[in-house]
Amino acid sequence: MPLSLARRLDAVQPSVTLAMNARAADLRAKGADVFAFGVGEPDFEPPAFVLEAARKALETSVSKYTAVTGIPALKQAICARTAAVRGWTPKPSQVTVTIGAKHALFNLAIALYEPGDEVVIPAPFWVSYPEQVKLCGAEPVIVPSDEASGFKMSPAAFEKALSPRTKAVILCTPSNPTGSAYSESELRALVEVWKAKSDSYLIVDEIYADLVYDGFKHVSVATMVGDAADRLIIIDGVSKTYAMTGWRIGWSIAPDKVAKALDTVQGQSTTNATALAQHAALAAVSGPQEEVERMRSTFESRRAVMVEGLRSIPGVKCRMPEGAFYAFADCRSLYGIIHNGKPLATDEDIAFFFLEAAHVATVPGGAFGAPGYIRFSYATSEDRIRGGIASINRVVAAAKRA
Ligand SMILES: Cc1ncc(COP(=O)(O)O)c(C=O)c1O
Repeated sequence: MPLSLARRLDAVQPSVTLAMNARAADLRAKGADVFAFGVGEPDFEPPAFVLEAARKALETSVSKYTAVTGIPALKQAICARTAAVRGWTPKPSQVTVTIGAKHALFNLAIALYEPGDEVVIPAPFWVSYPEQVKLCGAEPVIVPSDEASGFKMSPAAFEKALSPRTKAVILCTPSNPTGSAYSESELRALVEVWKAKSDSYLIVDEIYADLVYDGFKHVSVATMVGDAADRLIIIDGVSKTYAMTGWRIGWSIAPDKVAKALDTVQGQSTTNATALAQHAALAAVSGPQEEVERMRSTFESRRAVMVEGLRSIPGVKCRMPEGAFYAFADCRSLYGIIHNGKPLATDEDIAFFFLEAAHVATVPGGAFGAPGYIRFSYATSEDRIRGGIASINRVVAAAKRA
């Protein structure tokens, strides 16, 4: 008998983007100029003073373990920044510094979910939410939303999804993949349902909250939960705001009881996030914030170019997103185009068509629970956005249909 793998992996999807990335790498290796609309990270460099602080930190004691949940200065700086930009003041004891925000979510999964539990996740969702739930033997309860509602879960649909087995709810605002963000009143309506109908935890991923456009005001759910604060967990990090994906620093802000559990989970798995990276994050969070605004306004201009470009593709529909750096387009009108001798019939087919025919890398919506849609990242220059859209328009115009 061959040795088996743990059964918990049976329910978990490997990342679908891997095949796409491999094909894109293959094309690049053959000399193709592939437009990178698939990426989930800013193309900027972090602020120069962050890199300088990291260089300076190398001369101090960064080669030793730190406290499991992070260096005190960083936890304090996270609390100060949360007060300044999110409008509420957590205590350092609530903060767990992790190896990216994904790790913070994974720690929570280990600490909270078990077989029999349900975790409510609105679709379209970020790919890792349901997979982490399944890894822990719990069940994701997916709540669909549509483009007409701005890809936002309605209070009625939310209420229907809650059950006595609901252990947690995961919201992401602004959202990956749609860029949609809940307004203050929309969020309040969901919080009311949650407080009245459920004793579950509410996990809110605010990793894109600094990247909002057209004067949109992100209001943290932490300012509106009142006496349910002991069931609220916020996820955040430096990856998107400061263009620091590779430094791998994120954090959770949780009620003390949960924070203590996260300390235990992390203490028996990764121990601290890399000390040097914590020092770089400390500089980012506590230093001048002008660079954040520069990157945000650059994304805002690119967003207009991307959305306008997508709307120029015959039949493609795309709503203007409030935040993040993704446009989420309905591409179902392209079904039937003949590619590789077969009609396009799924969003994955369309993404491969864009990649192979137009040399544009994207992510198909099925991965996010939204078949028929494609996620286009605009974390690339306006010239590249225009170039990629023109390339798609050329291949669509030349395509034969079934
Ligand atoms: C919604 C969302 N949450 C969390 C993460 C993970 O962030 P990090 O790179 O800090 O682990 C991502 C990254 O793409 C994301 O899009």
